[in-house]
Amino acid sequence: MLEVSSIPELRAWTAGQRRAGRRIGFVPTMGFLHEGHLALVDEARRLSDAVVMSIFVNPLQFAPAEDLARYPRDLPRDRALAASRGVALLFTPDVATMYPPGAETVVVPGPAAARWEGAVRPGHFAGVLTVVAKLLNLVQPDVAVFGRKDIQQAALIRRMLRDLDWPVELAVAPTVREPDGLALSSRNSYLDPAARTRALALSRALAAAHAAYVAGERSAAAIERVVCDVIEVSGGLAADYIAVVDPDRLDPLNVVSDDTIVAVAARVGQTRLIDNIILGVGV
Ligand code: PAJ
Repeated sequence: MLEVSSIPELRAWTAGQRRAGRRIGFVPTMGFLHEGHLALVDEARRLSDAVVMSIFVNPLQFAPAEDLARYPRDLPRDRALAASRGVALLFTPDVATMYPPGAETVVVPGPAAARWEGAVRPGHFAGVLTVVAKLLNLVQPDVAVFGRKDIQQAALIRRMLRDLDWPVELAVAPTVREPDGLALSSRNSYLDPAARTRALALSRALAAAHAAYVAGERSAAAIERVVCDVIEVSGGLAADYIAVVDPDRLDPLNVVSDDTIVAVAARVGQTRLIDNIILGVGV
């Protein structure tokens, strides 16, 4: 695995791959890699000949009060994991490379960015779309792979690619979970054992929603109630939202179907966790 931090080195490498006729796959991350990120690498390898991974903790997507400064980092470990999983090029730019002084243009997301995660984190998705746009322009991959874990992010990126006529394929890979159901997340490292146990109510609530759907429930309000009940009974979580929405615009629904998304965000102490399912797929 090669690692570069500068834009000219990145461009030279990708140009060489393209000259050699290789399809480039791209997995953008903020590092502190876990099996969820590495499953995206597996998927990118399946869909391309050479995989680029970026590790960049993007300040633009963190609000001033958020966890940018304490966001977990471990580049030596990430390097080893990326290499062992078959990443061909690791791109590790610093903030001055991505946002040189004077940079001021940003991507303005559509209205779906103001809901759910966006309502709790104003400006977050403008920051995400801006960095993803820059990274896609730098890497110019044939296919980019994102995780279903951040389903609103994936939906907004899909929308951006469509709206701006971007010739890149998008793949969205399933959420990787711990054996007990907890969705892997870099932020899980903030959880002590007691908080981690409380956090399990999130995936339990989604599994209950799926069970209700499989048993024939089609009312969105009833599905939401099921999720809410499990979270309330657990007692250790404060829900920010429970969204029962369509996969495209993330609009609330009255009647659910196989492609309906049930997404939840909740706080466990100081830590904010998100999770979701597609009703036709389950946890
Ligand atoms: P990060 O949180 O590091 O996540 C990088 C990618 O890994 C995202 O596509 C995310 O959805 C995916 N991912 C995270 N946990 C996962 C899990 N348990 N299973 C499957 N995939 C998982 O998302 C970001 O970084 C940033 O917003 C980024 C897109 C890199 C822009 O800065």
